[in-house]
Amino acid sequence: MQKIIILDFGSQTTQLIGRRVRELDTFCEILPYNKFPENDPDVIGVILSGSPFSVYDEKAFHLDVQPLIDRYPVLGICYGAQLMAQLFGGNVKPAGTREYGRANLQWFEKENPLFKGFDEGSQVWMSHGDTIVDIPQSFHRIASTSTVQNAAYQADGKKVWGVQFHPEVFHSTQGTQLLRNFVVDICGSKQDWSSASFVETTVAELKQQLGDDRVILGLSGGVDSSVAAVLLNRAIGDKLTCIFVDHGMLRKNEFQNVMNDYKCLGLNVIGVDASAKFFSELDGVVEPERKRKIIGAGFIDVFEAEAKKIKDARWLAQGTIYPDRIESLNITGKTIKSHHNVGGLPEKMNLKLCEPLKWLFKDEVRRVGKQLGMPDHLIKRHPFPGPGLAVRILGAITPEKVRVLQDADDIFIQGLRDWNLYDEVWQAGAILLSDVKSVGVMGDERTYENPVALRAVTSTDAMTADWAKLPYEFLAKVSNDIINKVKGVNRVCYDISSKPPATIEWE
Ligand code: XMP
Repeated sequence: MQKIIILDFGSQTTQLIGRRVRELDTFCEILPYNKFPENDPDVIGVILSGSPFSVYDEKAFHLDVQPLIDRYPVLGICYGAQLMAQLFGGNVKPAGTREYGRANLQWFEKENPLFKGFDEGSQVWMSHGDTIVDIPQSFHRIASTSTVQNAAYQADGKKVWGVQFHPEVFHSTQGTQLLRNFVVDICGSKQDWSSASFVETTVAELKQQLGDDRVILGLSGGVDSSVAAVLLNRAIGDKLTCIFVDHGMLRKNEFQNVMNDYKCLGLNVIGVDASAKFFSELDGVVEPERKRKIIGAGFIDVFEAEAKKIKDARWLAQGTIYPDRIESLNITGKTIKSHHNVGGLPEKMNLKLCEPLKWLFKDEVRRVGKQLGMPDHLIKRHPFPGPGLAVRILGAITPEKVRVLQDADDIFIQGLRDWNLYDEVWQAGAILLSDVKSVGVMGDERTYENPVALRAVTSTDAMTADWAKLPYEFLAKVSNDIINKVKGVNRVCYDISSKPPATIEWE
């Protein structure tokens, strides 16, 4: 399959470039700047990302781009553009002030193929501390802005471009057009990366890879593991066994509802009610990290015990997705790899790992789910933390507190659905401040009960998040309903912290 390689120099927007390319129905891989795949016949073009460094910093990431230029069309974005300009004899200097925000293009070569379809004064987004003062002699300028002389250039007679602005961000209003011009017209993408083609090729590959082997998969009720399960089921049918563990701290009726959904989808699922084990192990535990560790270890115990009953299992499948695996560079130059798996189980049980979604971004996973015929309420489900309501009850956990929180949370989530707000937020839930009590009055009675906090955030990747500006009327209604209907709660607060400095979860 044709692919674009995006070489990452550490910019915060590198993943966004990847998503934009995928939106053009073109497969791409994001790799550290020094890990170009030399012998990959499918590469059709290269994009060099931005970077937090200056090209003349001692620690800056350097790359000899000549071999790339000799073989592929290359587009340098921000640092990528500065790097090429500097390498070929241009001059990059600190800009007087950091350029940050909107700017408008003024043309020197309006008909350049990279800018096909662009308007006069097209708006772009700048974010850089350096500027290309002089471009190399063998390059020519395509556009400038009121403050940036060389906002875009091309190497004479070569398929090599540099842009000082960020076409991948929303505020570059014709940025997608630029990327389309590069990816489709210049690199020649056939635009054959779609959810339908992904399903078809992945099912065929899984059949080939797994043959008659048995596979086990841990379901969480979340989107990624559910889509992975349906995809595998399409490939190997009943040779896939799914295990769904109820640790007792799921949402109200979640275990039963999700089990029913899975059964309707034709999945072979074992549901394990292990709530008694988890409640007993968590008895009296207050410290958030201890709660997480107990639940993580307990989950592995239960999963392993069930998995051992499945004779001849050779593979452990997981819903790992692309952002979990991207090796992104941080500014210290270290490569960070965060690859989630079920706590070392594959090695311990001698299982091979199967990760059919490992190339997909979250929105693509949802599209694949849709393609597989999964219902919207499963595909669009908000993320939910593995330790569940345990990290949303501040203080020690008891079955009674879980019940109170489940009821409050259910009113909030159901309310979001009824008011068509559910899909507007990334994630929402209620938190029980179980060690805090306040005085209230209900009817003629004094109450002395716990508060519940409501949390709803907007986000694109959970790395950063903002509190959702839900309508006051909605919040008022939910607050009333919770206080009137949930015994044990007499006060409702709305969390207006963003991440950072807060996190999405409270523990
Ligand atoms: P924070 O609270 O770190 O959460 O801002 C970011 C995202 O991760 C989810 N989250 C978890 N998911 N196991 C999970 O599977 C966990 O232990 C866990 N902790 C947080 C959180 O719900 C949010 O979507």
